[in-house]
Amino acid sequence: MKNFVFHNPTKIIFGKDTITSIGSETAAYGKKALMVYGRESIKKNNIYDQVTEALREAGITIIEHGGVQSNPVLSHVHQGIKLAKENRVDTIVAVGGGSVLDSAKAISAGALVDHDVWKFFIGKKSIKDALPLTCVLTLAASGSEMNSGMVVTNEETEQKFGFANRHLYPKVSILDPCATFTVPPHYTAYGAVDAIAHVLEYYFTNREPYTPVQDHFMEGIVISCMDSCDRVLQNLEDYDARADLMWAATLALNGLSGAGLGKTGFPMHMIEHSLSALYNIAHGAGLSIVMPGWMIYQAQRTPEKFAQFAERVFNITSGDIEEKAAEGIQALLSWFVKIKTPTNLTALHIPIQDIPKIAENAVALAKIWNMKDYTAEKIEEILKLCV
Ligand code: NZQ
Ligand code: ZN
Repeated sequence: MKNFVFHNPTKIIFGKDTITSIGSETAAYGKKALMVYGRESIKKNNIYDQVTEALREAGITIIEHGGVQSNPVLSHVHQGIKLAKENRVDTIVAVGGGSVLDSAKAISAGALVDHDVWKFFIGKKSIKDALPLTCVLTLAASGSEMNSGMVVTNEETEQKFGFANRHLYPKVSILDPCATFTVPPHYTAYGAVDAIAHVLEYYFTNREPYTPVQDHFMEGIVISCMDSCDRVLQNLEDYDARADLMWAATLALNGLSGAGLGKTGFPMHMIEHSLSALYNIAHGAGLSIVMPGWMIYQAQRTPEKFAQFAERVFNITSGDIEEKAAEGIQALLSWFVKIKTPTNLTALHIPIQDIPKIAENAVALAKIWNMKDYTAEKIEEILKLCV
């Protein structure tokens, strides 16, 4: 195991009827909040009323910045930064899923600088400070509620870039599983796929030879996501299953999975972000397309870990290493089919002749993420396994 420092400063308040604490928790950081949220879901499921009432009762003035779209875009972040500066807000409240939380993180950093916030995403500037951020999570998927990452799409350049910075951790995130009861089946499934992808990026790119704690932790996250997602798809208001899925998704990308593994990569995400940037498909849907193809490609080169995955997650014990590896990937793919997430480019009518364009777009992020071995040719080869 490599040396590591694990420090996650986000306070998590988890459970039923916790949303109202957003008022007192935010009041600890400021008196005038920019409230960032999506389109209509929080107005329909009463979370908007719960949050605004709690904030006002805590004496907080609210400046609203709604309308964050899924796969959040830079232009909307720019508008939020402008609003934050004009109104001199001293704190930011995000109410939504990963798209909302990431937009809020970008605004929290952009509000304190005079240059374009996009310079952070392309490594031209580094974040030195950010406005305090408190969150109410409404969708289990991204892990943004307990990490320092954020992902935004620059519509002009058609680039969906993400990075992490310690100033971007939310101060407090409130996770009430009831807030996710209204998440429809397809976004529930996309969220489970995203959380599974988060741990599998570490799991399969890990080069440390002996990491049983991390391996079993990640295998457990995968099994929990699958089991709880299956239960939720039976009953969208199954509190225990929603709670399990929510906590699993948070744990999947809060730093614990990768602690002690040394250098790992996020190749599946690097490729998926191009699909979302170019075709505006849901992040989890894009991963459901990319993961099997990338896993087949990688299992041909490092089959051992894929065989371990097959044994421990799907109880596949017969066959040699290569056979077990292939069967484990097939088992995950079958589960994607079962939860009705797309499993190839054709399913979303993405033309196969677009593969070179997708690969070209992905290479730019591969460079920023220091994954120089991912050339356009290699990415094209992987994408050809996703058709
Ligand atoms: O806009 P509204 O009306 O709120 O609808 C949203 C949106 O259309 C809806 N929704 C959210 N909560 C709901 C709900 N509908 C009913 N009931 C609720 N309680 O769901 C749709 C999708 O929301 P979105 O926030 O886009 O989904 P998710 O949480 O999966 O976030 C995806 C974003 O997270 C980024 C992705 O790139 C993508 O942009 N990620 C962020 C990461 C991070 N910060 O660490 C890492 C991840 O790998 C990921 O890249
Ligand atoms: Zn993801």
